[in-house]
Amino acid sequence: MSLDNKVVLVTGGASGIGRATVNRLALDGAHVVVSDTQVELAGEVVAEVKKAGGSAEVCELDVAEEGAAAAAVKAIVTAHGRLDGAFNNAGITGPTVKLLDIDPMEWARVLAVNLTGVFSCVQAEIAQMIQQASGGSIVNTASICGLVALPHATAYNSAKHGVVGLTKSAAVEYGPKNIRVNAVCPGFIDTPMLAQGAGASEEVLNGVVSSLPIRRIAEAGEVADVVAWLLSAQSSYVTGVAMPIDGGWTAQ
Ligand SMILES: NC(=O)c1ccc[n+]([C@@H]2O[C@H](COP(=O)([O-])OP(=O)(O)OC[C@H]3O[C@@H](n4cnc5c(N)ncnc54)[C@H](O)[C@@H]3O)[C@@H](O)[C@H]2O)c1
Repeated sequence: MSLDNKVVLVTGGASGIGRATVNRLALDGAHVVVSDTQVELAGEVVAEVKKAGGSAEVCELDVAEEGAAAAAVKAIVTAHGRLDGAFNNAGITGPTVKLLDIDPMEWARVLAVNLTGVFSCVQAEIAQMIQQASGGSIVNTASICGLVALPHATAYNSAKHGVVGLTKSAAVEYGPKNIRVNAVCPGFIDTPMLAQGAGASEEVLNGVVSSLPIRRIAEAGEVADVVAWLLSAQSSYVTGVAMPIDGGWTAQ
């Protein structure tokens, strides 16, 4: 299998896109470290993986907590001796108000989780991969909001545009160390986040579907498939990309 014997960290692995990706990576042969703030739910995901014959463990991690990502990577290396790949995916929605109405505390929280959280993970992961001298592959979750701006989502748009910039910077600086860094930019994906966010009402969702060239919301597994490919050697010459997985929405 394409990820046999690889040790891979997934943040936000307890739900939605993260959960689907954990299952997919384990099917591909990886040992997956399922990190999240929701530890009980992460435990359910690990049980799911093991039931299917895969290998996984829980790691409690709040990506917004200073020093937490570095500690998680250190613990993984202590237990397994290495870290081959990572999917930095944990994220939250932001306030759905116009820019002038954003509460600075809410702005700070969205940036802390969705951008600084990814930065802290990438920094700890690349430091470890350099030490191993065996390269590695990192995938960050941005969004279509990292490519274009949705209205009433300034904090989220800003954080996700930042993730794209962070991804490109890391790819350029650490390509010479054989460390690849890419971002996925999901569009409208059927997860608890979409259900809680702007997609909550049926009317809004119907409007979204009719605006998508593919005319449907995606399953989380359709993002997981792309992430698994980016983490595998099959994408060995791909780095620094921000790949839309959006049913053609940003192509319009
Ligand atoms: N669902 C969509 O339509 C969509 C579209 C574009 C981008 N995204 C992005 O995809 C990622 C996953 O979202 P999802 O839709 O699967 O949502 P989700 O809410 O189902 O999953 C997000 C997970 O992240 C975890 N998390 C939140 N804050 C955390 C923190 N501080 N530390 C560690 N874990 C934390 C949550 O507990 C949860 O398990 C997010 O980065 C989101 O912004 C989602």
